[in-house]
Amino acid sequence: MKQITAILLGAGQRGTEIYADYALQFPKELKIVAVAEPRDDRRTALAVQHGIPAENVANTWEPLLARDKFADCVLVCTQDRMHFEPVMTALDKGYDVLCEKPMSSNKKELVAMGNKAKESGRVLSIGYTLRYSRFFMKLKELLEKGTIGQLYAIQHMESVGYWHMAHSFVRGNWRREDETSSMIMQKCCHDMDILSWLVGAPLEVVSSFGSLSHFRPENKPAGAPDRCLDGCLHRDTCPYYAPRFYLEHPDTATKEGFCKVLTMDTSREGIMQALETGPYGRCVYACDNTVVDHQVVNLSYRGGVTVSMTMSAFTKECERRIILMGSHGQILGNMEESIIEIRDFATGATTTIHIPTPATHHSGSDTIMVKEFLQVLNNEGAQSRSNADVSVESHLAALAAEESRLANGKPIFIQEEYKKL
Ligand SMILES: NC(=O)c1ccc[n+]([C@@H]2O[C@H](COP(=O)([O-])OP(=O)(O)OC[C@H]3O[C@@H](n4cnc5c(N)ncnc54)[C@H](O)[C@@H]3O)[C@@H](O)[C@H]2O)c1
Repeated sequence: MKQITAILLGAGQRGTEIYADYALQFPKELKIVAVAEPRDDRRTALAVQHGIPAENVANTWEPLLARDKFADCVLVCTQDRMHFEPVMTALDKGYDVLCEKPMSSNKKELVAMGNKAKESGRVLSIGYTLRYSRFFMKLKELLEKGTIGQLYAIQHMESVGYWHMAHSFVRGNWRREDETSSMIMQKCCHDMDILSWLVGAPLEVVSSFGSLSHFRPENKPAGAPDRCLDGCLHRDTCPYYAPRFYLEHPDTATKEGFCKVLTMDTSREGIMQALETGPYGRCVYACDNTVVDHQVVNLSYRGGVTVSMTMSAFTKECERRIILMGSHGQILGNMEESIIEIRDFATGATTTIHIPTPATHHSGSDTIMVKEFLQVLNNEGAQSRSNADVSVESHLAALAAEESRLANGKPIFIQEEYKKL
């Protein structure tokens, strides 16, 4: 495979830990030759680590994409609302593009991105990691083999985890819909996509309910200050007490990636300093968050398959569980535990499959995704499995779910929406 050169836009968590780290791990396959990032600490660290010449290091993406094409592809890893313009510019300049999800929360922009990819003849692949997970690939294979006969219903549960909710969606970068996107778009567009992929039929109707119920000022315990470190009396009983999260909690304190969102100095002193002054030290009931903390989505497909999906902050684990119900059997799966159980109605037999998965971020699916993108670039004409066409459709489905939620569950007839667009 020929080495692919890439311009990295956004040296945040995804840009650094997924794409730039891939280049370090597989230098024959991928080389980061330029970076755009406004934060000095992140930009400098990445430029030094990858030996990027000064002329290819910029504070923002515009000057790099204003130049004539000087690399094979562009990796768009900026925040949710900053994908459309760099993607359109990069495709215009003749680059192949891997863009992080969500592509956009605007219907017209979504359609324009899909059209631009077609017109330019370049690859536009979206960071839909679930399509590359061994767990979901196995479920798709089992359905296609007819393991449970005819599929009729799916129940899908996206457990966000109370700690992940507090970190990312109450205190953190994805807390406000007007700055990023709705919860169903930012957190569950993966699920909307994978559910449609599993069903394999056109989506017809979407309806949804949900709200931001708990992480609101009126639920703040009596006397609690606005910052945990300002002598909060509820420190031992509040599950969201920030110092515990970042210094002791098994799911957050041990993950450097989580702490690096607060500060590049992940020593105890560095974290305490970040909690004293930064957004992650705020009481979860005194943040400016707007995204929902629980939501259900119902989906109905041509041919009669129905799906119900629940997203909830109020779970201990951060995991995805699924039940696929067919005419001849049932499949139960837990993605994080990498377990699939098949129950056969005719024989009464239960078969358990353990999916071998590396203990890396997203169970190795990010690595498979980047590898496939590079393979597609090496093999002109090949299709990415998370190409713009399929991705635009599932983004529109997520938008429909949000539209329905805001209209108290009104059903949205999605094929009519597609026609209008
Ligand atoms: N595929 C997945 O499973 C997955 C998982 C998490 C996040 N994401 C998505 O990936 C994207 C990035 O997420 P993240 O966690 O890395 O966020 P992040 O905030 O850590 O990184 C975004 C980076 O973009 C930089 N940036 C801001 N303005 C810029 C500009 N003008 N030019 C260049 N860079 C600029 C920011 O300074 C920041 O470092 C988001 O859209 C997010 O929703 C995808």
